[in-house]
Amino acid sequence: MQRPVTGNNPMNELTKELSMGGNLSKDTLSKLLGMDDFFPVYQLADRYNERQNHGVVRIRAILEFSNYCRRQCRYCGLNRTNLKLQRYRMDEKEIINTVLIAYRAGYQTIVLQSGEDPAYDKEMVGRIIRGIKDQCPIAITLSLGERSREEYAYWKECGADRYLLKHETSDPDIYRSLHPCGTLENRLQCLQWLKELGYETGSGFMIGLPGQTNDTIANDILTLQRLGCDMAGIGPFIAHPDTPLKDHPDGSTELTKRAVALSRILMPQLNLPATTALGVLDDGEKDDIFSCGANVIMRKVTPGIYRRLYEIYPSNLSLDDDIYKGRRDLEDSIRRLGKQPL
Ligand code: 5AD
Repeated sequence: MQRPVTGNNPMNELTKELSMGGNLSKDTLSKLLGMDDFFPVYQLADRYNERQNHGVVRIRAILEFSNYCRRQCRYCGLNRTNLKLQRYRMDEKEIINTVLIAYRAGYQTIVLQSGEDPAYDKEMVGRIIRGIKDQCPIAITLSLGERSREEYAYWKECGADRYLLKHETSDPDIYRSLHPCGTLENRLQCLQWLKELGYETGSGFMIGLPGQTNDTIANDILTLQRLGCDMAGIGPFIAHPDTPLKDHPDGSTELTKRAVALSRILMPQLNLPATTALGVLDDGEKDDIFSCGANVIMRKVTPGIYRRLYEIYPSNLSLDDDIYKGRRDLEDSIRRLGKQPL
């Protein structure tokens, strides 16, 4: 006999709302995030993931080419008030050469990331993009923070394919308290420009920020949907000792996985990475996330001398400096999970 559908069980609400066109309300998302037994939702997310991605985990290379940053985000170790950090910049040639090695090692996408560093101006970033595209057909994802519409447009013309800019939190008050140098409004404006300009666009947010509730996270998930994101990085906050948030507790890995699972169900086509931060807090969780809806993983190809200086949050993950070996090891670990690396 079928159980009657009541309005009290969030799982029933989920089923009902999915059957009525696939949209989920903020209330339902918020209640689901707080459920005692989330297992049925994970199972559903895994089914959606299988149907969409057929067991494939996409591997991306990430090159962190500068740790200079003009901003003061209160959670981030790269914020410009952290005077303890030794800063570095890679030059154009070094960046392009590293990308070529990553391409030869099998990577089909490179994420070029830095702090918000104006030293890499419009023309210089353009030359880097063209320099790479002239020599190999790797997909280029930029992650350079908030820039002008004109710069975004120019880099698209130069050959950039995607852009990552996390909205970090959809709550304007929390956003304001954490970002002395920017507004949520401008962040969302940038994301809208990127969409308009034809970039595949990635956003995302952190779990465990001060003042955040399940309602905030529900709104964060709905923000991804409203923006029409192609990708979303959802990771736990990790306290960095040289930032104002040094005493704030780390975000919950369980809640992170729940947010990923619900994002998969609400937006089946979304690319959802297993964020590095999740693996830093708990290596097992990073594997587990692939059965909760995630389908992407990023691997650092940043040269060893710089890697430890790109410390957004403290990490004890020591990775091999050999780009070829790093790629092979990652492929093996994905196969061990019963998934197929791409
Ligand atoms: N803990 C976890 N994630 C962080 N980020 C920045 N600082 C932290 C932190 N302390 C994330 C932000 C940013 C991305 C590059 O790293 O989401 O967008």
